[in-house]
Amino acid sequence: MTEFISKIRTIQWIDTYSRMVDQTLFPDEFKYINITTGQQMFDAIKNMIVRGAPAIGIAGAHGVVLYAQELGKKNLARDEFVKELLEKADYMATSRPTAVNLMWAVEKQKEIIKNSKSEISELISELKQNGIKLENEDIEINKKIGDYGAEVVPKNATILTHCNAGALATVGYGTALGVVRSAFAKDNTIQVFADETRPRQQGARITTLELTMDGIPTTLITDGMCSYFMKKGMIDMVVVGADRIAANGDTANKIGTYTVAIAAKYHNIPFYIAAPISTIDINIKTGEEIPIEERAHDEVTHINGKTICAKGVNIINPGFDVTPNELITGIITEKGILKPDYKKSIADIFKNL
Ligand code: MRU
Repeated sequence: MTEFISKIRTIQWIDTYSRMVDQTLFPDEFKYINITTGQQMFDAIKNMIVRGAPAIGIAGAHGVVLYAQELGKKNLARDEFVKELLEKADYMATSRPTAVNLMWAVEKQKEIIKNSKSEISELISELKQNGIKLENEDIEINKKIGDYGAEVVPKNATILTHCNAGALATVGYGTALGVVRSAFAKDNTIQVFADETRPRQQGARITTLELTMDGIPTTLITDGMCSYFMKKGMIDMVVVGADRIAANGDTANKIGTYTVAIAAKYHNIPFYIAAPISTIDINIKTGEEIPIEERAHDEVTHINGKTICAKGVNIINPGFDVTPNELITGIITEKGILKPDYKKSIADIFKNL
């Protein structure tokens, strides 16, 4: 691997297709894959070739463009084109259930489809332009999140993170790891402890990869170790990403995040969420309403293709959990750091959007 991870674009629209880094191959291989049809994009999101809430949002937006291109070749009347494209967009939004950025970005494309008065070819190019705009904005937003977040990182801090909320979970730079990057640029004495993040090991496979590529000192620990290191006084703060934040601040993130938040509260360690405003789902009141993805059982029963348990044992594999708002010190967004009472601070942000 020759490129620094922070410089790459995880997903990018190129002329008529979407190019993305295949995240299933980490850490062994760094390979781009070209997605040329809507169904391929649906499968890439579902099978986590692209993953991480902001990245799958952009993937969804690109997916709508791919469907538009396909329907554009069918010689449909404009009304029929619009009807079929809106149905395809709704289908795209079902490729994964928890990260709301997917529904948010597809909705942005649907607004264009519904409001545009242009002919089909022009409408397709408007959707493309919007996809590219969302892509570029993602990096700008993450840099703002990074700058706000860096202000609350103590000098010499050891930051614990869970899963991967980095450049590879976004178009670039990252949310939680954006905070790490901005803090490291100001103070190169900080370091990161990365949870392995079973079952898919995004912490081990992806976070350690992108941080070490950027020269940021990183220690990998397994998920059960976090409270041990907190008790020893070795963790100064926790920063994680988010897949969906309810209107009261309850936050869904990768399974295991809730455990880290409880341990942080017990040890009096600040616990921050870093996420763009697009991750806030103002339509749901509390975390109870966030749909939690149930993933394939072989993610739990196997590691690297090898069985690790007794045949026939019962398996449950929720992909996410919800951290209640009272465990969250602050939500770092591109508009600043939201503080409790989250119901109020989130409502205030949305009033001024
Ligand atoms: O299942 P994944 O890998 O898509 O889950 C990713 C996470 O839970 C991330 O922490 C979250 O999406 C924030 S990414 C900036």
